Amino acid sequence: MDLNRLYSDRAGKMRKSVIRELLKVTQDPEIISFAGGLPNPNSFPVEELEETIDHVMENHGKTALQYGTTQGLHELREVIAERASKDYIDADADNIIITSGSQQALDTVGKMFLNPGDTAIVGLPTYLGGINAFRSYESNLSGIPLDKDGMRIDILEETIKKLIKEENNPKFIYVVPTFQNPAGVVMPESRRKKLVEIAHEYDLIIVEDDPYQKLSYDCPPIKPVKAFDDEGRVIFISTFSKILAPGFRLAWTIASDELTRKMVICKQALDLCTNPFTQFIVNEFINRGSLDLHILKICEMYKPKRDMMISAMEKHFPEGYICHKPRGGMFAWVTLPEGIDTETMFLDAIKKKVAYVHGKAFHVDGGGERSFRLNFSYSTDEQIEEGMKRLGDVAKEKLEKRKAVL
Ligand SMILES: Cc1ncc(COP(=O)(O)O)c(C=O)c1O
Repeated sequence: MDLNRLYSDRAGKMRKSVIRELLKVTQDPEIISFAGGLPNPNSFPVEELEETIDHVMENHGKTALQYGTTQGLHELREVIAERASKDYIDADADNIIITSGSQQALDTVGKMFLNPGDTAIVGLPTYLGGINAFRSYESNLSGIPLDKDGMRIDILEETIKKLIKEENNPKFIYVVPTFQNPAGVVMPESRRKKLVEIAHEYDLIIVEDDPYQKLSYDCPPIKPVKAFDDEGRVIFISTFSKILAPGFRLAWTIASDELTRKMVICKQALDLCTNPFTQFIVNEFINRGSLDLHILKICEMYKPKRDMMISAMEKHFPEGYICHKPRGGMFAWVTLPEGIDTETMFLDAIKKKVAYVHGKAFHVDGGGERSFRLNFSYSTDEQIEEGMKRLGDVAKEKLEKRKAVL
């Protein structure tokens, strides 16, 4: 059987996710892994969810176990709309779709807008799952560098002009503006407004991916980009993965009536409907007032972990490394001094039983060779201290070797 002849061009071009592959290596229980974007399993409210699940089975069992609508459970969409209005997003249940994780929403956006050869504009660095979703539609990805305030809007405008001139057909700008994965940075309000203005000027969609907004440790609240959208050109995506549990595979989109209608059609072929059972559970969990308490609990758990990681780096990392303390989210982004390639350093790190994700994985232009991403939510305090020591040693050894060669 000649499978390569049979595969579609699209499937032939698809590549494995670097992170999924890395996570396999890190299955070794002796490895301290800062690689995955995993919530801390000790945060999962197992007992409370047991009660919630019993309640759902007793009161809604027959509906919860049945197929649901493609758009999602109406009651849950109403609750999400109400919560979104507190974040200055004007939406009702009809503007919301419950998706099977934000990953499905990203894939749906790709399916909806990208013909082969069209361009999606992304950050340098950006979320790897976004890169994979958009690439699978045979699109070009054009990267815009970030600074401490997120995507560089000045470069964005120049790039859009160039893409249009060269007939590369830019369709949307993908941003993770709050506690960005992987860089941890927050885009200030002025830049959010400018982003919407630019999207208007060049008639583009903005895809705002916002899983981390509620995991805020010392950052004043900030309005989502969607709050500045009065034309319906922003598709907002968020998820229960980081604020409750990724195992539910529940996320949501907020978009205009027109975009929502089209997304529902695109989603239908993917799964008919998102898991109704978990939608009932999460809806009940929110209505009991448990989600907000849970979010407070996670922030209390993650903030000291972030602090511990940052101070352990200060103790153990070589002189000249850069890591700006993230004010929320789950990730610290580290850049090492000149001369280190963090992709090759990964092999040395694995020998010392410690893992991260190298910076190139998040760069669509092949850059990021001196950087890597560390997750601080998953590991125990002891693992954070020990892991930073091991990583610091690996980096220092690399630098020593380089000095000896020079
Ligand atoms: C920026 C970003 N978007 C989307 C996702 C995927 O989330 P979900 O579990 O909802 O598919 C993640 C997960 O790490 C993420 O960091």
